[in-house]
Amino acid sequence: MGDTLTTLIAEELIAERVAELASQIDEDYRAVSDDLVLIGVLKGSFVFLADLTRRLTIPHRVEFIAVSSYGDREAEEPGAVRLILDVRHDIGNKHVVVVEDIVDTGYTLSYLVRLLEARRPASLRTCTLLRKPDRAQVEVTIDYLGFDIPDVWVVGYGLDFAERYRTLPRICAMKKP
Ligand code: IMP
Ligand code: MG
Repeated sequence: MGDTLTTLIAEELIAERVAELASQIDEDYRAVSDDLVLIGVLKGSFVFLADLTRRLTIPHRVEFIAVSSYGDREAEEPGAVRLILDVRHDIGNKHVVVVEDIVDTGYTLSYLVRLLEARRPASLRTCTLLRKPDRAQVEVTIDYLGFDIPDVWVVGYGLDFAERYRTLPRICAMKKP
């Protein structure tokens, strides 16, 4: 493997912040209860979403969506995003929170916001565990933010490098070999 990993956010700190985000969401959506849907963006958000959803005390549903970016066609079409897997239920008139692992350029989340807004949910908010403010290319509103981080590649807690390190319990900065 040969990658150098340095802890950026320890397990306890993640847990603390996830609990804070969950209680914020609890408070904000207490009145709508039954109509709250959390949509996790696969694959990166699955660990964060699993922890977040179990911290919520209000009723809610969980859905998943998957996208991929056209990495190799980046030069022709910067920021192009493709839908790979859609949610299984109609979100019309539901209160939706999109849950991401990380917002980097912002292309993915802004694509998802446009896609989901078109389906006329009762409301749509965004939640991301991490954000790299120095990398932003497009503006996208983040309603619930875990941590701002510097422009480094991070792995662990759901985030990967070539499918590796997703199950590390902490978030590490990785120096690519
Ligand atoms: P964006 O469209 O540039 O904001 O990219 C968002 C997606 O790129 C995230 O959902 C991740 O899948 C991936 N990504 C961006 N930065 C990192 C990182 O540091 N580690 C792991 N995945 C990342
Ligand atoms: Mg992601």
